[in-house]
Amino acid sequence: MAQKYVQRSFILWLMLFSLLFSFFSFHVSASFDEVPAQFLSRVQVQYKQQCAVCHGDNAQGNISLNAPVLAGQYAWYLQRQLNNFAVELRGIHVDDSHGKAMVVIAKQLKSQPEELLQLTAYIESLSSVAIASSSATKSFLPTNEANIKAKLKNGSRYYQAKCGACHGGVAQGNKSFKAPELAGQDTDYLKRQMNNFVKGIRGNSKKDKLGRQMAMMAKTTQGKELDDILFYISQQK
Ligand code: HEC
Ligand code: HEC
Repeated sequence: MAQKYVQRSFILWLMLFSLLFSFFSFHVSASFDEVPAQFLSRVQVQYKQQCAVCHGDNAQGNISLNAPVLAGQYAWYLQRQLNNFAVELRGIHVDDSHGKAMVVIAKQLKSQPEELLQLTAYIESLSSVAIASSSATKSFLPTNEANIKAKLKNGSRYYQAKCGACHGGVAQGNKSFKAPELAGQDTDYLKRQMNNFVKGIRGNSKKDKLGRQMAMMAKTTQGKELDDILFYISQQK
């Protein structure tokens, strides 16, 4: 009797698990292309038409196009950056070849404030998936186990001392400090932004208080220390 019960409940659990698993894998693999257009909401259509070509169908980013991950990023941060591009606080420096791509797009969005709110809320709602290890991560990825541990330990120490207070202990971001999530982001992109802040390509206008603040922070780290910090961030998702 008892054994039968155990067997039956085992089968039930198995069914439940396979159900959950198929549901989960559908969510991970489903992309816009598989969903007939009539089932997409207006905001999904807008994302697909205006953003997906560079940032990916699920806002997972595209390393070869230098387009960062947007999925799961806070809407308030996305809104601020889109506004910065639109009012030319970001993306207009002569050396900002990647930022340029966003200026025209952001200007057009600024004239549709309602759509912009919905679009950023939609992007935040997409579950963020860690982007595949980028070339920057690979170039400073240690080859043996002991070195990985040491690098992670150093990175964690530097990160907690210099970045964690604003960006959160596991790089999850912090609304009170208006600091975005960094975990899960393409390492090449993060490195480029740090470099942009240091060189005054981003965060150099008087009107861009938060960018200027971050530029000051970026100037406190470089070289191997920065690589260790970025390695620590890359391991948080
Ligand atoms: C032509 C390609 C392209 C298209 C289309 C595009 N983007 Fe971008 N976007 C980029 C690139 C490249 C960057 C990185 C700029 C940099 O390195 O500073 C970027 C950066 C961003 C950022 C800044 C992210 C951050 O972490 O600071 C936001 C927000 C953004 N895009 C939103 C959008 C939205 C929303 C759309 C659609 C309305 C869109 N983008 C369409 C290429 C594109
Ligand atoms: C005083 C708070 C503070 C500290 C400390 C800080 N940041 Fe930031 N960081 C911010 C804010 C705020 C922003 C958003 C700036 C903006 O809106 O342009 C930001 C933006 C960034 C960005 C751009 C992200 C993107 O998606 O484009 C990177 C990369 C970054 N920080 C890395 C770091 C690292 C690495 C450290 C430690 C060395 C650090 N930050 C320390 C507040 C901070």
